[in-house]
Amino acid sequence: MLKIEKVSKHFGGVWALRDCSLETRDWPAVGLIGPNGSGKTTLFHVITGFYTPDAGHVLFDGEAIQSLPTHKIVKKGIGRTFQISRIFETLSLMDNLLIARKHVTGEAVLPLFTSWKKVKEEEDRAREKALSLLALMGLEAKKDEPAGNLSYGQRKLVELARTLMLDPALILLDEPAAGINPTLIQKILTVIHALKKEGKRFLIIEHNMDVIIRLCDWVFVLDAGSVIAEGPPDIIRNDPKVLEAYFGK
Ligand SMILES: Nc1ncnc2c1ncn2[C@@H]1O[C@H](COP(=O)(O)OP(=O)(O)OP(=O)(O)O)[C@@H](O)[C@H]1O
Ligand SMILES: [Mg+2]
Repeated sequence: MLKIEKVSKHFGGVWALRDCSLETRDWPAVGLIGPNGSGKTTLFHVITGFYTPDAGHVLFDGEAIQSLPTHKIVKKGIGRTFQISRIFETLSLMDNLLIARKHVTGEAVLPLFTSWKKVKEEEDRAREKALSLLALMGLEAKKDEPAGNLSYGQRKLVELARTLMLDPALILLDEPAAGINPTLIQKILTVIHALKKEGKRFLIIEHNMDVIIRLCDWVFVLDAGSVIAEGPPDIIRNDPKVLEAYFGK
């Protein structure tokens, strides 16, 4: 589904990615691990059009997307969450979800081409969908509360719900479990397992190896901007190259 071909990206003298190649093949959930600063988030920025790579290609279902702007990549079916939460604290949970759709469909011009009735119907459908996603996250009771009232972990669930509003086929999660209590980690795992069963695909950056083992079917290891190992999670965690990347020789 997603193929990264020899992607490089540098910032001044720092090569965040260097000849980075990987392919998600048919794995429903693929993990991306590696020490701090190894290039994981940069790769997400490249895949989603926030950065244009200096070299290499990103193929999604066979099509090169590395030069497309973010909104076009979203329309092709790639969604993401951010390592640092990007929730709107003063907006309600409901509006945090509805805003995803407004942003992409360019709602302001819609009434010019369709009837108000259609606009209303579309809005009702979006509300229904937002409500069912909040229910999936166990947050429907808080739908009208400002998102600023939520815990750090709950905000991550709202961000995932907002991503799902746009029906992505592939979802990139940047450290979904970081800084979250065990009860909410369990909730996130349950939600992702349910979405996997529905056919959603995932690429997941995560430092918590237990989470990687429970979620991912295959893992790539980044070090200094390149893939140094890949394999099933329970095998990769004991790979000498991987241990060396994390802990040194
Ligand atoms: N916008 C930027 N400007 C300059 N350097 C950057 C920028 N973004 C990333 N880098 C550098 O690129 C390298 C890779 O950073 P990146 O954030 O991709 O790492 P990461 O694997 O996500 O790390 P972490 O596990 O800490 O989140 C680091 O050396 C980082 O300092
Ligand atoms: Mg990162």
